[in-house]
Amino acid sequence: MSAVPKFALHTYGCQMNVRDSAVLARRLAAAGYAEAASEEEADIVIVNSCSVREKAEEKALGKLGMLCAGRRERPGLVVGLTGCMANRLGDGIFAKIPGLSFSFGPRAGARLPELVARALTGETGIWAPDPPAAPEGGPAGAGPAPEGAADAPVQSFVTILYGCDRRCSYCIVPSVRGHEESRDPRAIVEEVRAEVRRGSPDICLLGQSVMRYGRRAFAWPEDIPSPMGFTEPLPRLLEFVAREASGAKRLRFTSGHPLGVTPELVRAMREIPAVCAHLHLPMQSGSDRILADMRRGYDSARYLEAVRLLREGVPDVAITTDVIVGYPGETEEDFEATRRVMEEAGFDNAFVFKYSPRPGTPSSFLEDDVPDAEKRRRDQVLLADQDARGLRLNKAWIGRTVEVLAEGPSLRNPSRWSGRTEQNKIVAFEPAPGVRRGAFVRVLVEDAHPQTLIGRVCN
Ligand code: SAH
Ligand code: SF4
Ligand code: F3S
Repeated sequence: MSAVPKFALHTYGCQMNVRDSAVLARRLAAAGYAEAASEEEADIVIVNSCSVREKAEEKALGKLGMLCAGRRERPGLVVGLTGCMANRLGDGIFAKIPGLSFSFGPRAGARLPELVARALTGETGIWAPDPPAAPEGGPAGAGPAPEGAADAPVQSFVTILYGCDRRCSYCIVPSVRGHEESRDPRAIVEEVRAEVRRGSPDICLLGQSVMRYGRRAFAWPEDIPSPMGFTEPLPRLLEFVAREASGAKRLRFTSGHPLGVTPELVRAMREIPAVCAHLHLPMQSGSDRILADMRRGYDSARYLEAVRLLREGVPDVAITTDVIVGYPGETEEDFEATRRVMEEAGFDNAFVFKYSPRPGTPSSFLEDDVPDAEKRRRDQVLLADQDARGLRLNKAWIGRTVEVLAEGPSLRNPSRWSGRTEQNKIVAFEPAPGVRRGAFVRVLVEDAHPQTLIGRVCN
C-alpha cells in the first residue's frame, strides 16, 4: 500500500449521486487521503449505487463482487458502498457481498473518514445508516472543493432538495432517499460558488421533484429580499443564486414536474439571464389511465398545459422528458396515447425506460404483464419517433449562431470538439484558436443530427 492511501469513487445512477460523490471526494481529501489517478491504483474503492431499476442494482452488485474477489491480487483493498442500494439493502448487503468493508446511507457521508480508518485496520461489515433526524445533508466539514482543476467538469450539480415525498407508484426513490428536506439558500450559494471556483460555469440545481423546493418545514429567510417580486421559493432561489454567485453563467434545475410550472417560475426562466431555456419535465406516460395509476398527479391535458406555458413564456425553450414503457396493464392503446402526446409536446430529447418492478413499491404488487420483448419494441418505437422529431427540431437551428460552453474533444470523433448550448443541445465543432475547455464560444450551426448540432466557430 502506498504511503498515503489513495481512493477512487465509482458512481452509478443520477446526477444526485454524481454530486454526492464529489462531496465524498472532498471529505476524503480533507481527511488526508489522495485521489487515485485510476481505480486500479486505489487502496480504497467506493461504489455509489442506484436502485431505480433492477439492472442498475445488478451492475453495482457485479462491480462490488469483482472488487472483493480482486483482493486475492490486491490484499488490503478497502471496498465500500453507498447510495440508494446501500439504503435499500441495509446490513443485508454483507451476506450478498462477503468481505465488503462498509456500507453507508447517502445522508451518512460525514462518517466516511471514520469508516475508512476502521476498514484500513482490516475491519469489515460495518453498516452506517442515515441518521434518523437527517441533519443538513450538505458538505459541511467536507473541506474546500479543489480549485481550478484542469479536468474539473464544466457542468456541476448542487442538491437543493433531498429526498422525495411524492411516492409515484413504481418508484423506489422515496423509500431509499428519505423525506424531503430543503436546504438553506445560503448553504446552496456557498456550494455553487465552490463549484464555480473549481471550474464549472454551468450549475444544475437538483431535487427529485425540484419544484417542491421550500415546501414543508421551511421558511424562506426573511432577510433575503426578492427585488423581482417573487413569492415562491424556487424562483426566489434562482434569483438569489444568480445574484450571489454571478460566476454561475448558466443555471438549470431538475427534475421538473408539470404542476410546478407556475407563471412565476416561467417568468424566472425568461427574465433571469443566467437561467437556461431548458427544462427536463418527466412525463412518464401519455395515457391518462396509466398516469392515474402511477399517481403522478396530472393527466395528459395538464401536462400539455405546462408545456404550452413554457413555450409561450420562454423563448427557444427546450423540453426533455422521461417515459416508462411496459408499466403493468399498459395496452397498445395506452402506448399509442404516449406516442401522440410526445409528438404534441414536441420533446427535444427523451429518455425511455423499460418498466422494472421495484420491491415494496405499490406497482410491484401488480402483475408485470407486458412481456420483455414487447417492452423492447415499445422502447425502440419511441426512440425512432424521438430521432425523427429531434432531427426536425434540430434542423430549425441551422443558420443560427449559438453560444456553446466548450467541453473538450468529442468522444466519438476526437478531432472535433463538443459543448452544449443553453438548451443543453450538444454541438460539435472544429477546434479553433482561443477555444478552451470551460470557455463560451459562438458557433454558427451548419448541420443537424437527431441528437447533435454541427457548427463552425465564429468568434
Ligand atoms: N425524480 C425524477 C425521477 C428520478 S428516476 C422525477 O420524478 O422526475 C429517473 C427516471 O427513471 C424516472 O423519471 C422514470 O422515468 C424512471 N423510473 C423510475 N422508476 C422506474 C421503474 N421502476 N422502472 C423503470 N423506470 C423507472
Ligand atoms: Fe420517484 Fe416520483 Fe419522486 Fe420522481 S417524483 S423520485 S418518480 S416518487
Ligand atoms: Fe438511482 Fe437513487 Fe438517483 S435510485 S436514480 S441514484 S436517487
